[in-house]
Amino acid sequence: METTAYYQEKTRRILEKYGPGPRVHYHLGVYEEGVQGAQQLDLLQRQITQGQEDMMAVASECWGVPSSLRGKRVLDVGAGLGGASLWMAGHKGAQVDALVQCREHGEIIRGFAALSGLGEQIGICVGDAHETPCVGLAQYDAVMAMESPCYLDRWVWMQHLSRLLREDGVIWIEDVFLTESASTEAKSFFDRYWKTDIGTIQSYLLSAKAAGFAVEIRDITEKTMPFWSLSAEWIRLAYAREKEEKKRACLSRSLDAALFHLDGWRSQQFCIALLALRRA
Ligand SMILES: C[S@@+](CC[C@H](N)C(=O)[O-])C[C@H]1O[C@@H](n2cnc3c(N)ncnc32)[C@H](O)[C@@H]1O
Repeated sequence: METTAYYQEKTRRILEKYGPGPRVHYHLGVYEEGVQGAQQLDLLQRQITQGQEDMMAVASECWGVPSSLRGKRVLDVGAGLGGASLWMAGHKGAQVDALVQCREHGEIIRGFAALSGLGEQIGICVGDAHETPCVGLAQYDAVMAMESPCYLDRWVWMQHLSRLLREDGVIWIEDVFLTESASTEAKSFFDRYWKTDIGTIQSYLLSAKAAGFAVEIRDITEKTMPFWSLSAEWIRLAYAREKEEKKRACLSRSLDAALFHLDGWRSQQFCIALLALRRA
């Protein structure tokens, strides 16, 4: 599977930039407009990761997540290094199954969960989100997916989720979407860089409707805009102190990508939204 190898290879760099954990997120953050980046690498890193934590609070409020999920079972689809799973377990008391493609990511999440005293509340499933081999039907009260649906065949995936969810279950999505004004280059650069199949919100709505869900949408693009300038600044500082040629080349590619994203956000070719799907 192409994305499995892609993410396996990225693990160390994700931990370097968004670590040290135990809650490591690999999704956008939310920030005050015009926020200035710190001039020191470690402070800047903390600013970036705090924004990712703040995203969890903003998302959870917009999705209408109850103050307690004690006794509720949540599936975190494409859980990455588990930041969102641990957040839902720690802040809301949920029992969370983190679905990962890479076995190694599962081991990392297990370690972080133990470090956080949440070992009992976090289960690991290794597999493909279109199939989720680890569970039975109608098992979940909620499915959460942060910046992973852009990798998936949404039509197939949502049909699958409708079987995994209990009757009153809900799907919480945070994702990047193409807008109507996006150029074909914007889609192809984004997909090439991230190995995704990014889509429009409209296309998600069609898949959701076909699977029997009604959707609530909240656009949070503005709040995420500073993520890319902070990220570009972090890369510049990291580049300035990196000696190894191979790592410098990698940082240089990341900088190009961060600037591409910043431009794409500003020119409104991409948007970020929080979706909550409930059975229609
Ligand atoms: C941008 S990362 C987001 C990680 C995590 N949700 C977070 O917010 O920190 C996208 C994740 O989707 C996962 N992913 C992509 N395709 C997948 C698939 N077919 N099945 C399961 N996970 C998948 C990747 O392994 C990666 O961890």
